[in-house]
Amino acid sequence: MEIFEVEDYDRMSRRAARSVARQILYNHNSVLGLPTGNTPTGMYEELELLYRQGLIDFSSVTAFNLDEYYRLPPEDERSFYSYMEEYFYDRVNVRDENCHIPDGNAEDPKRECKDYERKIKDAGGIDLMVLGIGVNGHIAFNEPGSPLGSPARMVELAEGTKSRNFSEEEEGLNRALTLGIRNIMQSEEIILLASGERKAEIIEKTLNEEITPEIPSTVLRLHPRVSLILDREAAELI
Ligand code: GLP
Repeated sequence: MEIFEVEDYDRMSRRAARSVARQILYNHNSVLGLPTGNTPTGMYEELELLYRQGLIDFSSVTAFNLDEYYRLPPEDERSFYSYMEEYFYDRVNVRDENCHIPDGNAEDPKRECKDYERKIKDAGGIDLMVLGIGVNGHIAFNEPGSPLGSPARMVELAEGTKSRNFSEEEEGLNRALTLGIRNIMQSEEIILLASGERKAEIIEKTLNEEITPEIPSTVLRLHPRVSLILDREAAELI
C-alpha cells in the first residue's frame, strides 16, 4: 500500500486526476470504477480541465459507478445518476453507452446486480478503481459487517450513512445497490481518496486495525496495488 500525503484538498484532487489521466494515456480503452460523495468532486473538476486542455480523451473509456440508492428516481438530485451527470459525464466526452450506474429502480435488484457484474466482466474488468471512504470505513456502500468476499448486491445503509442523505420522513430510502468488496478487490489498481479531519480516525484504523469486516476498508491492505491519497488533515493520525 502506497500512501501519498499532500497539503490540501486541491492537491489531493489534482493528484487523483493525474492518476486517472495516466491510466487513460497508458490505455485509451481503460475501464474505470468511479465514486460519488463530496470527496471526488475536485478530482472530476481536474479531469474536466485536463480534457478541455486536450490532454485526455474519454471517447474510448468505459466507466462503472460503485453504487446507487434503491428506489430513488434518477432525476432526484441526490441520486448518484444526477451526481455523475452534473460533475462528470455531461462535462467530458465519455460516451453515454460507456457510462454505467447500477439501476436503483430495477424491478429485480438481484438480477440487476448480476447483470452489472457481467457487464464489468464483459468490459474486461476494472483497470483503475477510485474510492472514497465513509467515516465508518465503508467503501462503496459496503457497510461494517459486509463479508470481505461480498458480490454486487442490495444492502441496508448504516444509520449514519442514511441520515446524512435523507430525512427521517423519507422511509424506505435506506437501501442501495452496490458493488461488493470482491468486485472492488478484483480491480487491477485502486486509489482511495480522503480529505479533512473527519476522515483522520478511519484512515488510522484502515491502516492499523486488524483486517475485519467490521471495518471494510481494512481489506484494501490485502490488495497488491493500492494507493491512498490523503490531504494533511486526513493523514493527521498516522
Ligand atoms: C458515500 C458513497 C461512498 C463514498 C462515501 C464517502 O455514501 N457510497 O462511495 O466514498 O459515502 O462520502 P464523502 O466523500 O462525501 O465523505
